[in-house]
Amino acid sequence: MKSIRVTTRGGSEVLTYQDEPKPDCSPECVLLKVIAAGVNFADIMQHQGTYPLQLPLPYTPGMEVIGVVEAVGADVTNVRVGERIAAISFAAGGYAEYLLIKPEQIIRIPDTLDEHTVLALLIQGLSAYLLLDYAARIRHGESVLIHAAAGGVGNLLVQLSKLMNASDVFGTASTEAKREMIKNWGCDYAIDYTDPKWHETVLQITNGKGINIILDPVGGSAIAQNLSCLGVEGRFVSYGWLSGDYPSLTTAQCQKLLFNNQSVSGFAVNVVMEHHPDIVDTALTQLLNWVQMGKLTPILGQVFPLKDAAVAHAAISARKTTGKVILQVG
Ligand SMILES: NC(=O)c1ccc[n+]([C@@H]2O[C@H](COP(=O)([O-])OP(=O)(O)OC[C@H]3O[C@@H](n4cnc5c(N)ncnc54)[C@H](OP(=O)(O)O)[C@@H]3O)[C@@H](O)[C@H]2O)c1
Repeated sequence: MKSIRVTTRGGSEVLTYQDEPKPDCSPECVLLKVIAAGVNFADIMQHQGTYPLQLPLPYTPGMEVIGVVEAVGADVTNVRVGERIAAISFAAGGYAEYLLIKPEQIIRIPDTLDEHTVLALLIQGLSAYLLLDYAARIRHGESVLIHAAAGGVGNLLVQLSKLMNASDVFGTASTEAKREMIKNWGCDYAIDYTDPKWHETVLQITNGKGINIILDPVGGSAIAQNLSCLGVEGRFVSYGWLSGDYPSLTTAQCQKLLFNNQSVSGFAVNVVMEHHPDIVDTALTQLLNWVQMGKLTPILGQVFPLKDAAVAHAAISARKTTGKVILQVG
């Protein structure tokens, strides 16, 4: 079968398209013929060597797929050959024509939804929903600031904030074209966070009150600007380090948190999936319902053939993509 292999850490050039043996379906597994695989920023950090949970080399990237069941192991009873299902696999392997999964990884999806929309709702969709509902515990009428709002997680955060009754939604993006897009998706204010004084703009718009919830995948030194525009009882959730660095807090910043009843917390979707599968099921059901009702429309970005996985990764790294990036496999 064709697959993408990573044999050494480095930039997108380390992704090679090659032939691998098709996996045999063991008794406790399900063999999936992959239709399409979702690309996540974590796939990039994995081969760059900046992801904390490093997959051992060599490996095939790809943590989410949609496909058709090709074979079912003798011990598996909850799925049949020919069913179209989705799966999340933090052990990766999705950038390939076939993927072996465990029955508990099966995600059932409505027949009516197209493959690319389903992929947008998996890691990125669940992360966006859980960031707002589980991590930040959004309440009716609160304001939200979404960094990297034009991205895969970001576009869904913008739309979900409104569906979860946020008041003002602020989004940040690096270019004018992206800022125009995020306004079209529902942002009330589109902020240029390449301007080092972006936080002053946010404070001006909020009449000095600041924001209730800030969702941050960027990290690094921007923590100072973020905390300066976090309102009383505000929640700042860190869920990525696109800048290459984690945020670090000074004593003065900790003091300000304490005297303003503010919190700083972290979020990792895999931890919620491991410890609270019921919460994740509820989130996915709600996401699927909203999409079927026409209330939520994941923004679908570029689609690349499997062989061009390196091109897809380079485009995301260069900040040239918007919405969900997909690899078409079958
Ligand atoms: N903790 C979790 O459970 C979890 C789950 C899913 C995703 N994440 C994190 O969420 C973030 C977004 O993931 P995604 O898959 O949805 O990616 P993405 O948003 O589709 O792509 C990354 C976007 O981030 C922005 N960005 C800001 N600084 C950047 C930099 N230094 N280099 C490259 N891009 C930069 C770019 O938009 P601009 O040009 O507008 O800045 C870029 O388009 C990533 O950090 C990812 O690791 C975390």
